[in-house]
Amino acid sequence: MEIKVTQADNSDLKPRPADESQIGFGDIFSDHMFLMDYESGTGWHDPRIEPYRNISIDPAAMGIHYGQEIFEGLKAYGGRDGGIYLFRATDNFKRLNRSAGRLCMSEVDIELAMEGMKKLILLDKEWIPRSEGTSLYIRPTMLATEPHLGVRPSTTYLFFIIIGPVGPYFKEGLNPVTIYVEDFYVRAAHGGTGDAKTAGNYASSLLATEKAKEKGFTQVLWLDAKEHKYVEEVGTMNMFFLINEEVITAPLDGSILPGITRDSVIELVKGWGMKVSERRLSIDEIVESARSGTLKEAFGTGTAAVISPVGQMTYKGEDHIVAGGKMGDLSQKLYDEIVALQYGEKEDSHGWVERID
Ligand code: COI
Repeated sequence: MEIKVTQADNSDLKPRPADESQIGFGDIFSDHMFLMDYESGTGWHDPRIEPYRNISIDPAAMGIHYGQEIFEGLKAYGGRDGGIYLFRATDNFKRLNRSAGRLCMSEVDIELAMEGMKKLILLDKEWIPRSEGTSLYIRPTMLATEPHLGVRPSTTYLFFIIIGPVGPYFKEGLNPVTIYVEDFYVRAAHGGTGDAKTAGNYASSLLATEKAKEKGFTQVLWLDAKEHKYVEEVGTMNMFFLINEEVITAPLDGSILPGITRDSVIELVKGWGMKVSERRLSIDEIVESARSGTLKEAFGTGTAAVISPVGQMTYKGEDHIVAGGKMGDLSQKLYDEIVALQYGEKEDSHGWVERID
């Protein structure tokens, strides 16, 4: 399918950030966007790149009323060698299609979506920031658009990709974040939509996160919905714990997001000869190991956050300082390795990195 490109008039081009060190996360968008439409019977059609603009949606669109929405988050990296790199981008679109299956939405043709995304990035490549710690964030999104208020899957969808320069996700940057272990609210239950990247998971996480923020924490660590006992994820990140010499992360058993950075960390750490366990880890075991000093590090992983060290965890009113409140050696090593791969500075023996310009 041919992707039609309509370029913005020069007079409509937006100013790019003057000071890249001030870029936060998710506020700035480039000059163009990719779109395509779906109707049952016809399939996906009219793939196109247009000037970035408001989209027009019927107020009865099912995605607005019943949350049939899925999205992805990935990045393009501007290397110091002038290259533009993608990191495991196909895996994001595969996950998008798995989310589509869970939400009864229509899968996209991965090749077409990747082609549209690359065309968009190259058209707006001047928007890729080049300062350390910055990248171009890419947000593929699908929304149910059929105007209908009965509860059933929509017969029409809009898919779009928007992009924009980002800096660190957390204001802490690489400094350790503080985590509130949530023992009342839950994010997702087994059999639910926790392993799909869909808006509702994030909406349901807001109240607990706002309450934790009021108490001065950066994020909430979710426990399992049934027993409030086993650690799940942080909502914008998967979680890893280094206890003694074992690197532990929650298994992908349906209620947590299968993170691509999570998967990369597992492969890297295994390759370094360390013991990695995808297993249920109780908050009691973490508290015990924090008290006894065997909890060496805790860190979150995600596309937006990369590797985010945890400096403090608070559970039932007890504070536990992790790694002396600093970034631990393993977190630092992982951060350095992943970033070097993503920016094309290190040879990629995993088949993860693609140079697109
Ligand atoms: C990402 O890491 O890209 C995410 O999608 C998390 C988030 C910003 C919601």
